[in-house]
This record gives sequence, C-alpha cells and structure tokens, in this order.
Amino acid sequence: MVSQPVPALGLPSWYILQEVLSRVDADPTSAAVVVRAHDERIKDPRRAAVAIKCIPRSCVARGAKYIEREVLHHRRLWHRHVVMFRELLLTDSHLCIVMDYIGGGTLHQLVLEKRRLSEGLARWFFQQLILAVDYCHQKGVMNRDVKLENIVVDDRQKHHPVVYVCDFGLSKHVNNSDPTTLLGTGKYMAPEVIYQGAKGLRYDGKKADIYSCGVCLAVMLFGYYPEVLVGGQPVTSDNDARQTGMRVKALVGAGEACLQVVLPQQRDADGE
Ligand SMILES: Nc1ncnc2c1ncn2[C@@H]1O[C@H](COP(=O)(O)OP(=O)(O)O)[C@@H](O)[C@H]1O
Ligand SMILES: [Mg+2]
Repeated sequence: MVSQPVPALGLPSWYILQEVLSRVDADPTSAAVVVRAHDERIKDPRRAAVAIKCIPRSCVARGAKYIEREVLHHRRLWHRHVVMFRELLLTDSHLCIVMDYIGGGTLHQLVLEKRRLSEGLARWFFQQLILAVDYCHQKGVMNRDVKLENIVVDDRQKHHPVVYVCDFGLSKHVNNSDPTTLLGTGKYMAPEVIYQGAKGLRYDGKKADIYSCGVCLAVMLFGYYPEVLVGGQPVTSDNDARQTGMRVKALVGAGEACLQVVLPQQRDADGE
C-alpha cells in the first residue's frame, strides 16, 4: 500500500498512515509532506479517510506567518467545494493539518491525463471553482494560489465529479494589510500581481484570484497556459514568482511597459 516511505510524523496512534500523497522535495522552502491516513475512531470507511499536511516544526518558524494564516483561514471555511478542515495537531516533530481525503487526484493530473477537457466538463468544474472562490471572498479570504494543482477531484459519481479547493498556504484576509507581495504560481499570476508585486505596490487579491480561475478554465479547455507578455516577451514561462518579478523589473527598467495576455495558439497565429 505504501508507495513512498512515510516519514516519522509522531501522529496519534488512531491515525493509520496509508501513503504519501505529495512531497515537496524540489522546493527547499517547503518540506511539507501530505499523507493519506485512516482514522480508526471512525467506523464509516469513507469518512475515515483523511489527508494530513505535515509541516516540520523546523520550517514552522520560517513560514510562521503563512502557516498561521493557512490554519486560521482554512478552519473557518465550510463549503461544498472547499476541502473540510478537521483538526490541527502538534506532534514532537510536525505541525499537522488534518482534512477530509478526496480520492480522485488533482484537476491538474486529470488535464494531463486527458490533454484537455470537454467544454461541458470544464464548465462544470469552473462553476464549482467559482462557487468556492466566491464563498472564500465573502468570508474575506483571498486564496492567492488558485491553480489546478490545488483543486482535488472526487470522481466517485462518474458523471458528476465534485471538485474541492485544498490549499490555503498563501491566503490572506482582507483585514490583514493589502497584498503587495509578488507571490503565487507564475503561470497563474494576474498581470497586476506580476507588475505591481514586482514593484511592491498594492493589488486586489480578490481580482487576482478571479484571473487565476480564468487561467484554470483556459488550461482545462486548451491544455495550455496563457502567457503574460511584457513588450512582446513572455514573463510567466516558469513557476518561480521571484524570477518572473526580476524579469518584469528588467523589462520595465528597459522601457518595455506594454503588458498583454495571450494564449499560445494566439501567439502562433500572430506569427510570433
Ligand atoms: N484533502 C486532500 N485530499 C487529497 N489529496 C490532497 C488533499 N490535500 C492535498 N492533497 C494532495 O497534496 C498535494 C499538496 O497539497 P497542498 O495543500 O497543495 O500542499 P502544498 O502547500 O505543498 O502545495 C495536492 O496537490 C494534492 O495532490
Ligand atoms: Mg499546493
């Protein structure tokens, strides 16, 4: 059952570890691991499945602000299309966020598998995503990392799969200060996040989330990421927000201020 070695997490004995769902080894700033486990206290096997995001205590101090927000915001959200937060645990080695487990993989995996989705299916998922994001916004929470990798799919009802937003690691509340930081995932970042964030200026986090929802829709429909161009040059070719910001600063510094969003096919058609 266990595909990758499960690290020692020191969880209470009623959580029986099943498998590692995600390990972020590539990113040295995030040593978090997400595991699937079985909560022995619950008799119903479907309700007993949990996903546990485990953040090493050594990383908590470094990312304290973001982790605190993730917990505070996620635990207050209760919606049909937001993964249910169950409890927060502190073990000898990790801070652990226990959530409902959603078994069908991420929307990103689904699009990779199918290359692109039908218009009907993309619309179905997009409507659910918008309901979730709108609910979060009504609660004052801006996600700031809406992307297909952060949306999990419950495919038990084959014709009506249900999606859930699962990650609030970069979220911010409207009662915090206005967002000015260039963060998120390059290909999903709104032009104003790149442009304003590179200069440390304010942007509207809710509008930026809606742009990211639009990127999700485009990727589901076309199987491609739209690109943000500055002076005709793509600046979102990778996922590193800081590098994107540096490229934008360099281009704006060189006098290239014209900003444009295009789909790859559009670039090809334009002969660029
Ligand atoms: N509740 C869940 N059910 C099933 N899989 C999940 C769940 N939460 C997270 N995952 C899986 O773990 C991955 C990483 O979780 P995420 O919360 O996005 O952490 P990170 O902050 O490392 O991006 C997700 O992309 C998804 O594959
Ligand atoms: Mg994530």
